[in-house]
Amino acid sequence: MPWVSLLLAIGSLVVSADEYRERRARLRAAIPDAAIVLEGAPDTSGDPRSPMLQEPNFYYLTGWKEPGAVLVILPASVEPNEILFLPPRSERKERYEGHRVAAGDADATSRTGFAKVMSTDVWEAEVSRLMQDGNVPRRMKLAEAAPVIAKLRMVKSRREVDMIQHSIDVSIEAHLAAWRRAKAGLFEYQLAATMTQVMMEQGCERHAYRPVVGSGPNSVILHYGFNHRRMDSGELVLMDVGAECNAYAADITRTIPVSGRFTPRQRELYELVLGAQKAAIAAVKPGASMGSRGEVVEAAKKYLDTHGKPIHGKPLSTYLTHGIGHHVGLEVHDASADVPLAAGMVVTIEPGLYIAEENTGIRIEDMVLVTETGAKVLSSALPRSASDVERRMQH
Ligand code: GLY
Ligand code: MN
Ligand code: MN
Repeated sequence: MPWVSLLLAIGSLVVSADEYRERRARLRAAIPDAAIVLEGAPDTSGDPRSPMLQEPNFYYLTGWKEPGAVLVILPASVEPNEILFLPPRSERKERYEGHRVAAGDADATSRTGFAKVMSTDVWEAEVSRLMQDGNVPRRMKLAEAAPVIAKLRMVKSRREVDMIQHSIDVSIEAHLAAWRRAKAGLFEYQLAATMTQVMMEQGCERHAYRPVVGSGPNSVILHYGFNHRRMDSGELVLMDVGAECNAYAADITRTIPVSGRFTPRQRELYELVLGAQKAAIAAVKPGASMGSRGEVVEAAKKYLDTHGKPIHGKPLSTYLTHGIGHHVGLEVHDASADVPLAAGMVVTIEPGLYIAEENTGIRIEDMVLVTETGAKVLSSALPRSASDVERRMQH
């Protein structure tokens, strides 16, 4: 997507208060007899190094970013059946951090999307009172509610898919900018810097995870994150880099030749990984398993072992040393439960081959939406075939 349309797209990318309310209603329906108490991330604003990240389950249910809040969801029969508790106003804190919404503000309801907003000073007493008056038998904390919330989070709404698509589109621009810049003599961090620049320029918050720019011997280190090596001609550079925009993550990997042309051996291995990825994506559909022995990974391994030669007598799939993928959403490794794939889920498909003795690590990672009938590759705009990668590196 051209940059100007990316910018135009950002304005509309918010989850509505109604959608957050609907998520809470689903959780209430799944756990109908409890007071569910979720504490948001504590206030770390006193530490200037803190990125101040909201707890993701809390964010999923509220869209609330400010720290120190508490969410209580009560059975439908209790009135009120949901309350957002916010820290009391602190003039000192506001001097440092700016205005914060507090209970009692005239606009507290419209700002939060909650009909009932109260101070955290009273949350414990208020919850006890409502539980007693409403005969609510038990209280649940995040640890118990998280598996239920995970099942909700796994299936993305249309709006969430749009938001994930935006993070992907920005990440694709970032990868392409790095491809245009790549050449022998550059340091890995310079490619990372180019990618960061694109993300920040597009208004994204941050990298969705520590960016991996691993060249030559570093390409075999799965989550290499130092990015401090000087790249040389003839090497590969593996870039596992994704943006977090409007709270949603992208997770994309491409492996490119530093000087623009794969060697015959690199190309041979690259095409095996790509074939394995296509086989895995073809296995993605409702009902399939992403587990360590599920049909998605097995499709990738089978492809590698039937199309590639063993190395040192070991089947090629031995060199695929990690899982085939994971769910992505508010977190790069998103909340998930061990259930089969279903329409609306978003996962990565990321086979790789890591051959240390050849200084060759190759991973190709794309993001895939599970549809009613199969899969849609959301990151397909970023070239994948060896020839297309070489071609795009020229401009
Ligand atoms: N970027 C982390 C992962 O691929 O899982
Ligand atoms: Mn991944
Ligand atoms: Mn990744």
